[in-house]
Amino acid sequence: MFNFKKIIAASIILLTGCFLMVLEVRADIKKELFGKMPDGREVDIFTLTNKNGVEVRIMSYGGIVVSIKVPDKQGRTGDVVLGFDNLEGYLKGHPYFGAIVGRYGNRIGNARFNLNGVEYKLAANNDQNHLHGGLTGFDKVIWAARIDGNTLELSYLSRDGEEGYPGNLSVKVTYTLTDQNELKIDYFATTDKDTVVNLTNHSYFNLAGQGSGDILKHRLEIGASSFTPVDSGMITTGEIKKVVGTPFDFLKPTEIGARVDADDQQLKFGRGYDHNWVINGKPGTLRLAARVDEPSSGRQMEVWTTEPGVQFYIGNFLDGTLTGKENKAYKFRYGFCLETQHFPDSPNKSSFPSTVLRKGASYKTTTIYKFSVK
Ligand code: BGC
Repeated sequence: MFNFKKIIAASIILLTGCFLMVLEVRADIKKELFGKMPDGREVDIFTLTNKNGVEVRIMSYGGIVVSIKVPDKQGRTGDVVLGFDNLEGYLKGHPYFGAIVGRYGNRIGNARFNLNGVEYKLAANNDQNHLHGGLTGFDKVIWAARIDGNTLELSYLSRDGEEGYPGNLSVKVTYTLTDQNELKIDYFATTDKDTVVNLTNHSYFNLAGQGSGDILKHRLEIGASSFTPVDSGMITTGEIKKVVGTPFDFLKPTEIGARVDADDQQLKFGRGYDHNWVINGKPGTLRLAARVDEPSSGRQMEVWTTEPGVQFYIGNFLDGTLTGKENKAYKFRYGFCLETQHFPDSPNKSSFPSTVLRKGASYKTTTIYKFSVK
């Protein structure tokens, strides 16, 4: 006779097993050795994949996004970010390709700020200014990595006094690749002393494929009615200026190159676009900051963020001297960045949203890069 209880129990065990196997396959983040630092420390690379065949590779050095492979309108996969094939390429020096940037992304004027009546002097690594966290920013340290399902969790302890900043800052950045073709980045931090924090990712995108040409034909929309003008040293003036009637108006989709050579002082200061836009809507809520598409490939990318601003930079300092992945030379404007962030030089601009993280408080921001085809 059939023993129904036994059959049901066996079926449950079988189904659970299958379910766990599926989870196992779905949650697979592959870890491999990417290279070794000059002092022998190992750097690992993690490959995240989703059910659509999208693949993102991230390494423990700098938390750098090394590649993002997404399909075009014909279904052909292409790598849409700039970078190098091996660790040595990154160690030779590069303009923050794919990196986590901190403790303070972007510039702090005269490399100093005041907090609680104390003046803190930071490393000056961009003329007299501080840029992207200093000489050894978060882009040049090895992060501790942990795999949690389809999330890669990276942690780093930035010591009190590192690059001049106060407080031991405990930082965690998680990268999650979803089946909706989103690369979701969550940033967390806590401190044991009041400090300033502004974390971002510095990926250079080219939706036609990395190394394939300049990005001027990409069409861009930025959900921002104003931006923060800069002085000749690229430090924000404190002004919040309307974009209407200027080459900074990307409220409607516009080719990046359409007005880049306009006779405009802000464009001259930046050698092109290298400015912070003030994203419409309420900071702290996830909202669409920008949408970019590239007509020949049909690839489209949306940027969603909780941050108040986004730095749109178009690789104005790339000049062909760096040779990247697949032996491609990275020439003038071969990539663009959409660095979600707080406004540049906020620690010295009391009218800008504050970047102060108080002792015991939690820093948490989210940014999503979502890929699709048009
Ligand atoms: C800055 C640029 C800088 C680039 C690479 C961007 O975030 O705004 O001015 O040249 O990073 O360092």
